[in-house]
Amino acid sequence: MNNSFLWGGATASYQCEGAWNEDDKVDSMWDAYLHEKGLENGDVASDFYHRYKEDIRMMKEGGQNSFRFSLSWPRIILDKEGTVNPKGLQFYHDLIDECLRQGIEPFVTIYHWDLPQYLEAEGGWQNRATCDAFMHYARVVMKEFDGKITYWTTFNEPRWFIFNGYFIGNYPPECHSAQMTVKGAWHVLLAHAMAVQAFREEGIQGKIGIVHSYTPVDGVDDRPETLKAMRYADNYCNNWVLDTAAKGEIPQDMLDKLSAEGIDLSFMNEADLQIIRNNHVDFLGLNYYSRTLVKPYTEGETTLIVNNTGKKGKGTSKTIVKNWFEQVQDPDSEYTEWDTEIYPKGLYDGLIRAWERYHLPIFITENGIGCYEDVSVDCVQDDWRISYMNDHINAIMNAMDDGGDVRGYFAWSSFDLYSWKNGCEKRYGLVAVDFENGLCRRPKKSYYWFKDVIESKGERVERRKL
Ligand code: BG6
Repeated sequence: MNNSFLWGGATASYQCEGAWNEDDKVDSMWDAYLHEKGLENGDVASDFYHRYKEDIRMMKEGGQNSFRFSLSWPRIILDKEGTVNPKGLQFYHDLIDECLRQGIEPFVTIYHWDLPQYLEAEGGWQNRATCDAFMHYARVVMKEFDGKITYWTTFNEPRWFIFNGYFIGNYPPECHSAQMTVKGAWHVLLAHAMAVQAFREEGIQGKIGIVHSYTPVDGVDDRPETLKAMRYADNYCNNWVLDTAAKGEIPQDMLDKLSAEGIDLSFMNEADLQIIRNNHVDFLGLNYYSRTLVKPYTEGETTLIVNNTGKKGKGTSKTIVKNWFEQVQDPDSEYTEWDTEIYPKGLYDGLIRAWERYHLPIFITENGIGCYEDVSVDCVQDDWRISYMNDHINAIMNAMDDGGDVRGYFAWSSFDLYSWKNGCEKRYGLVAVDFENGLCRRPKKSYYWFKDVIESKGERVERRKL
């Protein structure tokens, strides 16, 4: 790995900041939803808002040279009229300046799911006006922090928050509608392109990209019907985000299939399509946790279930998209307690495919394993995380050897944080946060291992051909 390779951890504002109502911040849709339901929430989370200096110091001491984090829209824009909160901007100036002081490259996500509740109340991502509001917010932050940031990304994982919010219903606004899913997806793609347009119009320094929840698709065999199911699955999982952001092309066979199945696409007007066609990204951020293994569709209604129980095989993750494909589990693979397949080869395959298809620089913007861990000890001996990271970094290095242009790796997550509907019990951090005891921080074994890997420029990774 060369010296400019970015090594770091990633977080998201709602998952780590806490300070949910401080310094004039207004409610996000997650604040409103979790408070109303009385569920575990991110009111305090890792208290990063007050402890960011300590956290950034630990990144620096851990040898990391970059940090991926998101800006909180409801901290920065206070109402529908677009009023800017100077205290919100100041917090991010302080955070970014601290990163720069410590030699940590800030890698910024503009939107990681915390939509202001005042916009959700007006229809959220169902409403075209949210795209204009996003463009305004993106323009404000890009101009404000211009010159301090080299890497901007618009959205974190459009697929994940749109499907979970509008179809699966485990995220706010808890809907179960294919029509709303497609319309929400369209508005997010449009808002993304509008922000890229604003970036170019304003002549902002640096590069702009998007972050996708990348799940490369494999088939159970190579029969023609399986290949067809794989194409449907790839459109569903990846292409609608990546083809659109990288090339300005929404897959036509996907749109035809959606229309044939009765989805009304009349909201896709020509003027907005032009914005999408003309505004492409400079790089791709890919979050990799697992692949999608598929077989042809056999029977049953569309069923999408995510395992938020933390009990393997209970409330099993399931994806059947009627007339498109069915996802299957590989009996030979290992799975986490949340039913996520551990499959590093998928990262290698996916990187090669993404490179061949888009020829854009790639950052692995998230990769990690969620586990139950006892953090009352001095140093969590998380050998499972070391093995997981080793095998995935090895996959990246193999892909680079075979021509892929990968520019950075961000572990999810820099430190333990709030894992949405899985709560704080599902830990991903390189640094343990003791949520029960004063939120004190203690590096895990993986933190030191990662430091060695970075200092050795990857030499410390145990290599194997996949
Ligand atoms: C990604 C998100 O989907 O995966 C993160 O960008 C998220 O916000 C991470 O926390 C892990 O998922 P989960 O559901 O286990 O927290």
